[in-house]
Amino acid sequence: MTKQLVFITGISLLFCSSAWAESQPIAANAQAISLYQTRVEQANPDKEALSHSEKKVREHQDTKIVEKFVVPNFHKQSGDLETAPNSFCRNCHSPLPHSKQLRTRTFNNMHVRFIACETCHFRPKDITLDYQWYDFEKNQTVDGKGLFRIGQELDNAKQRPANPKIVPYYQGRPALAFKNQPFSNAVAEEWKKTDLHAKTLIRAKVHWPLEKKGPDCQTCHDEHKSLLNLTALGATKEQSLAMAKHIIPQFIRRYKKDDEHITIREMLQ
Ligand code: HEC
Ligand code: HEC
Ligand code: HEC
Repeated sequence: MTKQLVFITGISLLFCSSAWAESQPIAANAQAISLYQTRVEQANPDKEALSHSEKKVREHQDTKIVEKFVVPNFHKQSGDLETAPNSFCRNCHSPLPHSKQLRTRTFNNMHVRFIACETCHFRPKDITLDYQWYDFEKNQTVDGKGLFRIGQELDNAKQRPANPKIVPYYQGRPALAFKNQPFSNAVAEEWKKTDLHAKTLIRAKVHWPLEKKGPDCQTCHDEHKSLLNLTALGATKEQSLAMAKHIIPQFIRRYKKDDEHITIREMLQ
């Protein structure tokens, strides 16, 4: 317990002197500051978040040398596994980051190809965000007409491009940070340090505005309400219906406990 307290004090001292905190004036250009960056800068991780972060940083250091176990995405699509090279989260996460939840990981990894991490993990409760397709290479909003693949006979071996993706917007601008921004570079620099306290603090702040668990399938695959306005994103009426009625999210919804099994017969009911 005493050790914990010392650690927390260390953290607040470090926060005051951190290179990252000092570098914040770089971001004085209001145009470049995303809602997510603002939330990270305002983040005030509590004790629990800091000790969780320290634990994760320690585990991360312990396993660094082992190649991270990667779960291929659903359909075993061929081609490059890289899905989000310009994403801020890629400073630290592998291209297919979901491995822990046996039931859903392959689907979440599949979605990473067309949905930005922040669409699922950054959903502030006090603000309503808007969602649009964004091209991470050309840095521009893209019209979604024709981009949906659901509800069509498609060759699944033909991988969809990793760009564009559905991204959260706030006040007409993407609400997320990008890799090539000063903010992202400053976080990456801080993360490179070997100092445990520096890493713990930066990790805690980066995740403070985020949702650890991510949304369940029904958040987007539901007849009555979806996080995404599918028609505005370019889906046809048939595709919106196909989203709501897709058998796999419905199948996953029927699971209640982790150790529960569902037979194919039940699935086809
Ligand atoms: C500075 C490095 C860093 C950045 C940047 C970063 N992460 Fe993480 N994140 C980690 C580490 C380390 C872990 C713990 C190991 C793991 O689970 O892979 C982690 C864990 C997580 C978890 C699991 C929950 C938890 O608290 O353990 C989620 C969800 C997550 N990150 C999402 C994101 C998203 C989304 C972004 C981009 C907005 C992001 N991370 C950016 C380092 C980072
Ligand atoms: C379609 C929604 C969705 C997208 C997109 C998404 N995630 Fe997740 N993520 C989840 C859900 C849901 C969980 C909770 C575990 C689960 O159900 O697999 C999760 C869990 C995690 C975890 C915890 C570790 C694990 O193995 O489960 C990390 C780390 C993570 N996400 C990082 C990311 C990063 C980085 C990106 C972008 C490259 C991203 N996520 C994109 C929905 C998503
Ligand atoms: C943030 C919103 C979101 C969440 C959460 C989400 N999905 Fe989706 N999902 C989509 C969108 C958008 C598409 C349509 C992509 C397209 O048509 O190109 C889709 C498509 C799919 C498809 C069809 C893929 C194909 O090529 O036919 C499956 C299967 C699917 N989702 C399963 C799931 C499962 C299972 C979960 C939960 C583990 C889940 N989804 C969670 C948004 C979401």
